[in-house]
Parts: sequence; structure tokens; C-alpha cells
Amino acid sequence: MYCKIAIDGPAGSGKTTVAKELARRLNIDYLDTGAMYRIVGLYLKESGIGPDADEEEIQKKLENLFIEYKDGNYLVNGKIVGDEIRTAEAGVYASQYGANPAVRNFLTNLQKEICKNRSIVAEGRDIGTVVMPDAQVKIFLVASPEVRAKRRYEELKAKGKEISFDILLNQIIERDKNDTSREIAPLVKAPDAVEIDTSNMTIEEVIEEILRIVKNKC
Ligand code: C5P
Repeated sequence: MYCKIAIDGPAGSGKTTVAKELARRLNIDYLDTGAMYRIVGLYLKESGIGPDADEEEIQKKLENLFIEYKDGNYLVNGKIVGDEIRTAEAGVYASQYGANPAVRNFLTNLQKEICKNRSIVAEGRDIGTVVMPDAQVKIFLVASPEVRAKRRYEELKAKGKEISFDILLNQIIERDKNDTSREIAPLVKAPDAVEIDTSNMTIEEVIEEILRIVKNKC
């Protein structure tokens, strides 16, 4: 039987670090769905289409966007995607365009297809509720906005990118608002998900807690 693990939560809750390491330790695949929203957000922005554009217009534009997932890398129309999707602006575009039904429909179908017939750790905002409602393990990670902004600040600083803490905090609050208030697939804890507050936990503690749950369910 396949072991499917859904990890959801807001920006900076520790999802990516935890999900990647879990997949590595369990020797199963890993899917970062936020990266796909970033790819689509950037693509549509560059195409000059607004996030509130007509669904049909967006759908038509997305017909020319071919996203593949190979060996942990995303390819867009055959080209490997790099760090250009990791900027704060790309995160904001992802959140804005991710509220459009045509974008959600396009990516949800792709993600369901990728998650089919394999053991996987998938992370995002709607994995436990929409993409893998059948996952044996559902985790909802949370942390205070200040703790999350501080993590993003340190992460960007380590990459040589200095950006003000207050700007990051505002972006996080704004993104939370967008992600929890949108009509389709809002960021919400699945009824059968286990909530873990990571504010005062180390990554290792979070991983160990999830591994205990995985042992019981997979
Ligand atoms: O996880 P990450 O911060 O890279 O995600 C960027 C944005 O993409 C999120 O703020 C959210 O608006 C959107 N997203 C989403 N559904 C997902 C994953 C990400 O709406 N499953």
C-alpha cells in the first residue's frame, strides 16, 4: 500500500524543510505544490494577465504552459526552474493568482496526477482537503506570524538577500488573509489532520512527532 502524507500550513510554518526531510528519511517522493503556484503566478504576471482575469482567458493561456516534475525538479516547457520562483514577489503572485478557479483547477489536476500510484510527502495549503483527501497522514503546521516572518528573514539573509523584517511580516499577514479567505480550496485544517504548533519546536522535534504518526498509520 502506498503511504501518502499531506502537510499543510501557512507560509513559514516549516512545511518545506519538514516535508523534504521526511521524504528523504522515508525514502519516498516529495512534492512542493507551492512551487507550482509560484511558477504559474510568475508566468501569468509576465504574460500581462491580471489575477482577476476571466477564467477562460487564464485557461487559454495555461494551455501553453507545460509543467513537468522530474527527479525533484520542475521543468517549464522543457526548461528547469531555478531560484527565480523563490522571491517574495513570486510568493505574492502565487497567492493572488492561486485564488483564481482556472489556476486551481489546472494545478489541482496536475498534482492529483503526480500523487497517484506512489508513496509521497506533498506539501501545500489544500493537500489534505483537496489534492490527497485520502492521505493516511495529514499534518497541519502552524506558528505565529512573527516567528514565521523571522524564519523567512533568516532564510533570505542566508541566501544574501536582505529584506526588512516588517515587509516580510506584512507579506505573511497579507498572504494568510488571501489564502484563508479565498472561496476555493482555502487554507484550512482538514477535520482529520493533526495540528502541530512549531513556534517553539526544532525541526527535528517536528519531524520526530510526524514520524511517530506515520509509523501508526502507514
Ligand atoms: O508554499 P509557498 O509559500 O511556496 O506557496 C506560495 C503560495 O502559493 C501560497 O501563499 C498560496 O497562496 C499558494 N498555494 C496554494 N495552494 C497550495 C500551495 C500554495 O494556494 N497547495
